[in-house]
Amino acid sequence: MIGVKHIATYVSRLTSYVWEVVHVRKKVTIAGAGNVGATLAQRITERDHVDVVMIDVAEGVPQGKALDLLEAGPVLGYDTSVTGTNNYDDTTNSELIVITAGLARKPGMSRDDLLAANAGIVKQVAAETAKRSPNAVMIVVTNPMDVMAFVAMKASGFPKERVIGMGGVLDSARFRTFIALELAVSGENVNAFVMGGHGDTMVPLARYSSVAGIPITELMSADRIKALVERTRNGGAEIVALLKTGSAYYAPSVATLEMMESILLDKKKILPCSVQLDGEYGVNGVFAGVPVKLGAKGIEQVIEVKLNDDEQAAFMKSVEAVKSGCAKFM
Ligand code: 2OP
Repeated sequence: MIGVKHIATYVSRLTSYVWEVVHVRKKVTIAGAGNVGATLAQRITERDHVDVVMIDVAEGVPQGKALDLLEAGPVLGYDTSVTGTNNYDDTTNSELIVITAGLARKPGMSRDDLLAANAGIVKQVAAETAKRSPNAVMIVVTNPMDVMAFVAMKASGFPKERVIGMGGVLDSARFRTFIALELAVSGENVNAFVMGGHGDTMVPLARYSSVAGIPITELMSADRIKALVERTRNGGAEIVALLKTGSAYYAPSVATLEMMESILLDKKKILPCSVQLDGEYGVNGVFAGVPVKLGAKGIEQVIEVKLNDDEQAAFMKSVEAVKSGCAKFM
C-alpha cells in the first residue's frame, strides 16, 4: 500500500523536478539580514548567477533590503532574483544555505560569550531550512562559529560533508593583509594558512604562508612574524573595538562568498574551513579549521598537511577550546 510517507517523497521529488525545469539558476538562502547577511546578499547578487532568498525574523527588514538590491540591478546590470522573507517556505529547494543569523560581539566580548544566545537561533534556522532543502550544503557563519557548525549539523541531520564553518578563509585573509602591509607588496601575492578554531586559539601557520611562493620565514624576522600572528588572532576583536556597536562584515562576507562560489560553481578550491574531523589530525568528532576541497558536494576532501610538534600542540589546544563549547550540547 502506498503510505503517506511515499506520497510526500513523490510530491517533494516532483516539486524539485518542476523547479529545475522552470528555473535554471540555483537558489541560495541567506539566513540573517544583518550586516554580514545583507553584505553577503549584495555580493552574491552582484555575481549574477544564482537566485537569492534572504530570511530574517525582523518583519520588513529582509523584504526592504531585498527590494533595495533588486532595484540596483538595472544599473549594475544583473538579473538576480532577490527575495526577502520571514517565511521558511520561501527557502524551499535551496542548493546552499548560509547561516549568519544571531547576535554579534560588542567590545570586550569573546566569540564564546555569544554561545548561549546564538545556539538556539542556529538550531532553529538549521532545522527549518534543512527540512525544506534536504539536499543543500550548509555554511555556518554565526559565532562562536565552530560550535555553531556542530549545533547546525545536529539540528539539520545533514552529513558532515554538507555542513561547513566559515572562519579560516577570513582569518587567512587577515593574515594575508598584515603580511602584505608589512612587506609593502600586493595582498594578491600572499598566500596564508590559518588552522584550528575561529577563536583566540586559532593557529596561523607561518611555515605554510608565502609571498609569490617564497615562505614568509625567508622574508621576515621571527619577531615580526609573531607580531603578525598575534594581530591575526585578535583580528576580529580589533574591529569590534573600533566599531563599538558590532563586528566585521566586509571581510567575513567576501570570505563566505569565496566558499559559496567554490561549491556553486564546483571550483574545487582548497580553502581552510571548519569541518567535523573524524580521525584526521588525530581528532575525532570535533569541528576545527583545516584545509579542505570545496565542490558541488560540499567537502570533497580533507587535506592533511604535516605539522611539527609545536604546530600540532597549538592545533590541539584550539580543538580543545571548541570541544569544551560543544560539550554543552552533547
Ligand atoms: C570576525 O572574526 C565576526 O568572527 C567574525 O570578525
